Amino acid sequence: MFGKTAKEATRNTDRAVQRCIDPSCGGTYGLRERIYVCPRCSGTLEIDCRLVAREDAAAVRRKWAERAASRDPRDQSGVWRYREMLPFDEDAPFVTLFEGNTPIYDAPRSAKYCGLDGLRLKHQGCNPTGSFKDTGMTAAITQAVVLGARTAVCASTGNTAASLAAYAGRAALQSAILLPRGQISAAKLAQSLDYGALVCEIDGNFDDCMRLIQELGDDPSIYVANSINPFRIEGQKTVAYEMMEQSAWQVPDHVVVPGGNMGNSTALGKGFQELFDLGLIKRLPKLSVIQAEGAAPLAHLFANLDPAKSAGGEHLPETMAPVENPRTLATAIKIGAPVSWKKALRAVLRSSGKIISVSEQEIADAKAMIGRDGIGCEPASATTVAGMKKLVAAGHIRPGDSVVGVLTGHVLKDPDYVSHYHRGTLSLESGAKDGAAPQRIAGAFQNAPVNVAANKAAILATLERRR
Ligand code: F0G
Repeated sequence: MFGKTAKEATRNTDRAVQRCIDPSCGGTYGLRERIYVCPRCSGTLEIDCRLVAREDAAAVRRKWAERAASRDPRDQSGVWRYREMLPFDEDAPFVTLFEGNTPIYDAPRSAKYCGLDGLRLKHQGCNPTGSFKDTGMTAAITQAVVLGARTAVCASTGNTAASLAAYAGRAALQSAILLPRGQISAAKLAQSLDYGALVCEIDGNFDDCMRLIQELGDDPSIYVANSINPFRIEGQKTVAYEMMEQSAWQVPDHVVVPGGNMGNSTALGKGFQELFDLGLIKRLPKLSVIQAEGAAPLAHLFANLDPAKSAGGEHLPETMAPVENPRTLATAIKIGAPVSWKKALRAVLRSSGKIISVSEQEIADAKAMIGRDGIGCEPASATTVAGMKKLVAAGHIRPGDSVVGVLTGHVLKDPDYVSHYHRGTLSLESGAKDGAAPQRIAGAFQNAPVNVAANKAAILATLERRR
């Protein structure tokens, strides 16, 4: 334990509240209230968490750096070492798998592919369960324990489920997950089974699962751990802090993330905003969110916003038209009605970023390019590089700008997709009821296995042909 100053002795939980993001409501609620939307207006909640005073910010930042050498388990977590900024007390029952601490890689081939001079990719797939969800889940499950919940539940396209199952396992808490049957990668499903979750396969899509979760949330024994839960966002926002530490506090011009249920973009936006409010960064990076073309409700809304009215994110639209039958092979982001769209849109508008969509072919080729850099990721993550290429072509990102893309999941999360792409057999069901032909995705950077005779000469000859 480190020594406490008089200021640190005040409890964080006494100084943070849950707040409705709608300025015309502004309802505030205590941290121990088990709510996921504003009880007054059903609006979206966030945690108002101004825990560090501006004059103390530099000292807190030094403390974070000093923790690199500490053996305290909280300091070894890439989330809890920023605990001054989190709505938990020093003696909280932290549930950790030493999440965070993920690398930022230079990606020269991907940079060239996008038309950039340089590009860095922060790989959140290097978290304990192989996706970015762990940085939020450590906070959500810690809060579930604080509240004495019996069961933690989520709806998921696979990664949230795996993460929830693992953290609930660490906390010896029951977990139950609702998955759209047949629409989840086998690797992700296998993780949830192994971590001991009760896996409920639902006839319907992710949005149907999410609706059920919102109903279940009323039951007092249940704790909902989807990103609608504002504590998840608190854990995930630390990715912005870690990115800035790794960048020697030089703010990148652009940060680009995939968009599904919009928790990740919300969290990064909040993290950067807090650093800005503390004076630890002098400007916000432009935050851009990329959706898959067949599951892009927020990109559609964004394209039709009136720039004069929406600048700065002060006036947000009331509603967003959902996509009824979302379609994409990037199953992690096959979502038609993202719950955190308003918070994400606000973060993008405040930072002057963009929300766009990319095609299945663009995602698949960008994914292969990230693989060629020796990094690899799951399909949803590759929307970032596909989106950057488009944003460079459109002039929103300039070739010399500094750009960080966030990769959200590990390449082994969806091995079937990878294998089909490289063998040239990747295709997307048409979705039409009349049995129309599936859309074939060409493996533009295909790398199929080759049959080689079992002798040295044949192997050397094959190598020579590929040099
Ligand atoms: N990338 C991956 C690999 C994901 O698993 C997800 C979301 C996203 C991007 C989108 O992030 O929802 O915060 O905008 N997966 C959720 C899940 C929905 O259930 O695993 P988001």
